[in-house]
Amino acid sequence: MRFLGNGPVACGSGSGTAAGVPVATLLALAERVARRAGNLIRSRGTATVHVADTKTSPTDVVTEMDRAVEALIRSEIGEERPEDGLLGEESGFVPGDSGLTWVIDPIDGTVNYLYGLPYHAVNVAVVEGNPPTPGEWAPLAGCVHNPVTGQTWTAGVGAGARLDGARLRMAAPPALSMALVGTGFGYTTDRRRSQAETLRSLLPEVRDIRRFGAASLDLCKVASGQLDAFYERGLNPWDMAAAALVVAEAGGEVSGIDGQPPHEHMLVAAAPGLRVDLVERLEALNAGRG
Ligand code: IPD
Ligand code: CA
Repeated sequence: MRFLGNGPVACGSGSGTAAGVPVATLLALAERVARRAGNLIRSRGTATVHVADTKTSPTDVVTEMDRAVEALIRSEIGEERPEDGLLGEESGFVPGDSGLTWVIDPIDGTVNYLYGLPYHAVNVAVVEGNPPTPGEWAPLAGCVHNPVTGQTWTAGVGAGARLDGARLRMAAPPALSMALVGTGFGYTTDRRRSQAETLRSLLPEVRDIRRFGAASLDLCKVASGQLDAFYERGLNPWDMAAAALVVAEAGGEVSGIDGQPPHEHMLVAAAPGLRVDLVERLEALNAGRG
């Protein structure tokens, strides 16, 4: 895969195995648990969604379902792969000793879920390296599952990306001026102020901007051709791990800016050429500040 930027972000052994396990086996487990998690989300509907807590700001919510889904995924992966580490949005990092770590976002797009908007996803990825440290990990297999639409994106390193089983291959991109660009915003006031400044400069220079509200699904839209590019400052490994692999395995590129790999500083995803142009523009706008 192409997970670009300085630093030891590699792309697995290329042999189709990781820690002695076929990537296909890891991918099958990621998909199985993501679908089971989706069943749990669907079984409760959205009429009785309860906010259980808030995190970085009063608008950064965690629902009871976020916690229930993460507990389910942790328990299912823990039963099958007890030697692997786990990093989940809601309950943090538990290191393992196999060299593999499962990176989980139980609900990406929690605010959409809270409002009954059908644009949220379960993200399950398995990565090698050290996912809490930016640039020191790379995804091996991942699944992004939208429990409402049933759409399911999967990717294994060296094995391609698929939507509902159909192979994805990204087309040649348009020029930046004709590109439909997705982005997202963080939850704190200061971060949003600087994101708004970047957007104010970029908006007149592209076809248009979209903000759907779940970074993983936005990245999958890039892989599926419904967005030409996506960028966001402030993403965590669980927002990006599975979906970045989907983009890379569909023939796209994923990087940071300022010579960095994709991480909290910035993530940029697009087909080759367009990604370079968007990175240059974001660097000129100093989009990695604030
Ligand atoms: C959020 C979504 C959103 C993005 C935020 C993320 P969450 O994840 O992916 O689209 O703009 O930066 O934090 O909080 O819904 O899991
Ligand atoms: Ca989440």
